[in-house]
Order: sequence, then C-alpha cells, then structure tokens
Amino acid sequence: MRYRRLGDAGVKVSAVALGGWINFGESKTSTDAARAVVTRAYEQGVNFFDLADIYERGDAEKQMGAVLREFPRHTLVISSKVFWPMSDDVNDRGLSRKHIFESIDKSLARLGTDYLDIYFCHRHDPETPVEETARAMDDLIRQGKILYWGTSEWRGAQLAEVYDVCERYGLHKPKTEQPQYSMLRRDLVEEEIIPAAQPRGIGLVVWSPLAQGMLSGKYDGGVPDDSRFNRETWARDQFLNAANAAKVRAIKTIADDLRISRSQLALAWALRTPAVSSVIVGATRPAQIDENVGAAEIDLSAEVITAIDQVLAA
Ligand SMILES: NC(=O)c1ccc[n+]([C@@H]2O[C@H](COP(=O)([O-])OP(=O)(O)OC[C@H]3O[C@@H](n4cnc5c(N)ncnc54)[C@H](OP(=O)(O)O)[C@@H]3O)[C@@H](O)[C@H]2O)c1
Repeated sequence: MRYRRLGDAGVKVSAVALGGWINFGESKTSTDAARAVVTRAYEQGVNFFDLADIYERGDAEKQMGAVLREFPRHTLVISSKVFWPMSDDVNDRGLSRKHIFESIDKSLARLGTDYLDIYFCHRHDPETPVEETARAMDDLIRQGKILYWGTSEWRGAQLAEVYDVCERYGLHKPKTEQPQYSMLRRDLVEEEIIPAAQPRGIGLVVWSPLAQGMLSGKYDGGVPDDSRFNRETWARDQFLNAANAAKVRAIKTIADDLRISRSQLALAWALRTPAVSSVIVGATRPAQIDENVGAAEIDLSAEVITAIDQVLAA
C-alpha cells in the first residue's frame, strides 16, 4: 500500500480506501461478511475507512465501527459525514451549528470512538451561512472531537468561499473534498474541482472510482444476480448503456497489455494526479479488496494515459 498526504495536512491516508455506503449495515450484509471485508482491507494496508451518518441510517457506522474497534485506533483514519436528513425534524439535517454539534456525538457513539479523523459536510447547505458551519467545525477540532474537516460535492466557488472565510477568521480550513470521480465521471473534477482545491491544499478523496462496478468489466455479459446493478437498479440506469459498455470493453485491451485488471487500471488512473489523495472503493467480498489494493502500486505511463483518454473521448 502507498499512503498520501491529505492535501497539505500532515495526516496520511491509504491511496485505496474502503467506504461504507450501500454495502454495509445489517439490512445490506451480515456481520460476518462485513467483518471479512473490513478485516481484509485493514490487513492489506488500508487505513482510511469512510462512513456517513446517513449510510443505512447509522447502521453502517455501527457495523463497520464494531470491526474497526478491534484495531489500534492510531492505525486508522475514520471519517463520517453530516448533512442529509436523519429524521423528519426540521433541525435534524443540514449544516447548522445545532445539527453539526448533535450529529457528531451520535456518530461517535455509533462508531465507538472518541474522535473522528475527518468530518465531512456531505453537501453544501444553502440555508446555513458558511461562516456558521466553518465555526462549528473549528470548534469541534478545538474540542478534540474531530481532527480535520472537509466537504463533499461542493462546487469550486464554494470551496473558495469557505477557504476565504476560514482565512479571515483564523479558523481551521477544510483539508479535503470528496467528489465523485471516475473514467466515466471526470469533467467537473478536472475542470473545476481540482483547480479550486489543489492550490488551497485541499486533497480529493474520490467516490465511486469504479463507477459502482461498471469499470471492472463485470457487466460485459449482462447483469449477474449477485451484483450491485441487480440489487440497485437506479445505479444500473446511471451507468449501464451502450456507450459506456463500449468504453469498458476498449479499456480491457489496455489493461490486458499491462497484465492488470480493469478495476486496477481504473483506480490507478484516478490516482494518476497528486490532487487525488485517495480513491474510496466499495467492496462486497475480500477478493475485490485484494484486487483493488493492487492499484496503489501501479504508475501509469504518459502513453497509457493518452490511450485511455482516446478511449474515453470516443
Ligand atoms: N460523498 C458522497 O456523496 C458519496 C456518494 C457515494 C459513495 N461515497 C463513498 O464512496 C464509497 C465507494 O462508493 P462505491 O461503492 O460506489 O464505489 P465503487 O468502488 O465505484 O463501486 C463499488 C462496487 O463495485 C464492485 N466492485 C468493487 N471492486 C470490484 C472488483 N475488483 N471487481 C468487480 N467488482 C468490484 C462491487 O459491486 P458488487 O456489489 O456488484 O459486488 C462494489 O460494491 C462509498 O462506500 C462511500 O464511502 C460517497
């Protein structure tokens, strides 16, 4: 495993991280199956585990947290997030000081830890002044409940604004942004987010780097029963179409030449820029972890990156 700095912060995250969305929580997988995946990731050098309050309404934090508690705390970088509604209550949502302060204690209790390494604002909240949110995050850092904070799916101008607010008032600045980024979803990150984040020392930790499994090639011959696109038809509708299928087939030739899998190629491609601190993958079985962590060791040549660009532009 290779480790990268989180933007310009001192903490280092594994280049390949494991996320707890959709595959974790008792309604999604058994405790034993979850334990097998998380343990394999840890054994393979993954130190960064990404969660959110909203993932199975707290159940993913509970299930993954129960496994993570068995490992020495200093060897882990644990993140969670706040923003999405956790109930019908008008204040049980968003990025107000009230909701942030109440949410952190619930996430810490579910995870069974005293602090989060990273706390993400899961979206931008147009109904809360950015100064209120930044001050709440700064206070949580000063209280020791979180070590770093970040944003997810914020636009470039929003990153610039919050950075300026933190600078003006001497608050801890966000050190990471979590956008969607993959071979099949690249434009916003490359055109807007990297130019806004990189000069401000904000490292990207990117989600769905395999386009929810599409880039692995597992859907070349249809949708297997035991796959995400069978379980989550909305995800299939986002990615499974003739144009994407042709690109994924074309990528196979490039991966075969390098004697790596398409999943490894897709992850190494997302990691080709130092603006990306980590790719957050999902996994339903230990074998996927074994394959995906291999990407951290792969450096792609300029020729390979050009060949991939040609495939993706087609
Ligand atoms: N901030 C946000 O708004 C946001 C949104 C979404 C996700 N996230 C974060 O990003 C994480 C990853 O998202 P994701 O699960 O969509 O990522 P992904 O890595 O693009 O997709 C994961 C899925 O791909 C399949 N897969 C993984 N490795 C494979 C391999 N080697 N071979 C074949 N199939 C493979 C598995 O599907 P099967 O189920 O078919 O086995 C797995 O569930 C989440 O857990 C979460 O932490 C954040």
